[in-house]
Amino acid sequence: MSEKAKLIFDGKEHLFDVVKGSESEKALDVSSLRSDLDLITIDPGFKNTGSCKSAITFLDGEKGILRYRGYSIEDLAKNADFLQVAFLLIYGELPTNEEYVKFLNDINENAIVDEDLRKILENFPKSAHPMGILSSLTSALIAFNPEKKMSLKNIEDDREYMYNSIVKLLAKIPILVAWVHRRRKGLPLNYGDYTAGYVENITKMMFQVPNQDYIENKTVINAMNKLLILHADHEQNCSTSTVRIVGSSEASLFASVSAGISALWGRLHGGANQAVLEMLEAIKNDGGDTKKYMSKAKDKSDPFRLMGFGHRVYKNFDPRAKIIKVAAHEVLKDLGIDDPILDIAKSLEQEALNDPYFTQRKLYPNVDFYSGIIYKALKIPKEMFTVMFALGRVPGWIAHWREMRMNNDPIGRPRQVYVGSTHRTFKT
Ligand code: CMC
Repeated sequence: MSEKAKLIFDGKEHLFDVVKGSESEKALDVSSLRSDLDLITIDPGFKNTGSCKSAITFLDGEKGILRYRGYSIEDLAKNADFLQVAFLLIYGELPTNEEYVKFLNDINENAIVDEDLRKILENFPKSAHPMGILSSLTSALIAFNPEKKMSLKNIEDDREYMYNSIVKLLAKIPILVAWVHRRRKGLPLNYGDYTAGYVENITKMMFQVPNQDYIENKTVINAMNKLLILHADHEQNCSTSTVRIVGSSEASLFASVSAGISALWGRLHGGANQAVLEMLEAIKNDGGDTKKYMSKAKDKSDPFRLMGFGHRVYKNFDPRAKIIKVAAHEVLKDLGIDDPILDIAKSLEQEALNDPYFTQRKLYPNVDFYSGIIYKALKIPKEMFTVMFALGRVPGWIAHWREMRMNNDPIGRPRQVYVGSTHRTFKT
């Protein structure tokens, strides 16, 4: 018999079904609470609300565990390549060699973006933030790749259409990312060729300079591969929940991912990597006094927060941050870079780990704390950092959009507790 939980409210008894996950997580199913007791639950920021059942990513914030489809993030970051991870997230299993080659070739066949999109890009003001441009161009892709309405009842018929939408998106977003980057640098826009490797081509599309031989740098490719894998999914975060909720209205994959890009942009989410580097540079330019900034972060009357610290779900450490910290050291060493910003970051981390304000609130470095140091070493400008995060997160967004559609999840529509004026009459 399934486990039940009992609630007594206003003298009435209500039994909740207890839903159990494959890692023994338990949840109360509150879906009948309103019809039975005329009650809703309230949980601003969804801090303790599960919005769906998902088989994509498992995360244990207390133990610092992150797994994609059962594989640990440490294992994948060490041994896999990003395109394998993308396939794994979207389809549930690692690709066979044959599947991998087909996936890459299908992506390559779609490695073209309508020339009119280039005109749209060129009309953005130079000052436009790359995340705004990427979100707009992703949405604009729909105009050039009209999407048919996908019937949920005929999901089998639509599998091929869904596959085509997925490979299109995986092919075109890196081109848009490279274009946004190149335009900022005044470089001509190009398409590249994915058959040399997915991450290899992304790197080449971004960094190739006209009239110069392009020499592939293994350190750069490895760092990019690792960063993209570490950012590829993170279960029901702000941008992924956005993608799912937008897609739940039967909005298309491209439209849903465009909304996800906008959600990722903010400083409390993906925008933190840019904010971290700006913070570290500000500390350096202010004489490197990390203690002064630690005090500011603890002062409740000061809006300053230690960017790259704290996480909604990780309460001991962020496993991605551990891998990125080691990678930052390796990349700087391999590229022969001595960046004082890395020392400032390490001092801040050390001070926070010994400070009761941070330890009591369980605030530790997150994925964004060291990633900017690597991007900077790879000569990627700060404004592009969150775009790089988005590039990595695309497979995760696709996987969640696909899962939500395949599971036939209902339209996302939370309720509220109304606290405004009661009825009043318009006075003439
Ligand atoms: N610096 C100083 N104090 C902090 C910080 C910080 N970075 N983060 C949280 N706190 C304090 C906060 O003031 C609060 O204190 P009190 O209990 O005294 O009011 C307490 O810690 C709990 O914070 P919260 O804002 O209620 O926690 P949350 O779960 O709503 O927010 C967070 C999580 C990530 C938005 C927050 O920790 C934060 O703003 N961090 C800085 C931004 C950042 O690095 N974001 C990237 C997240 S990882 C990438 C991703 O996947 O999005």
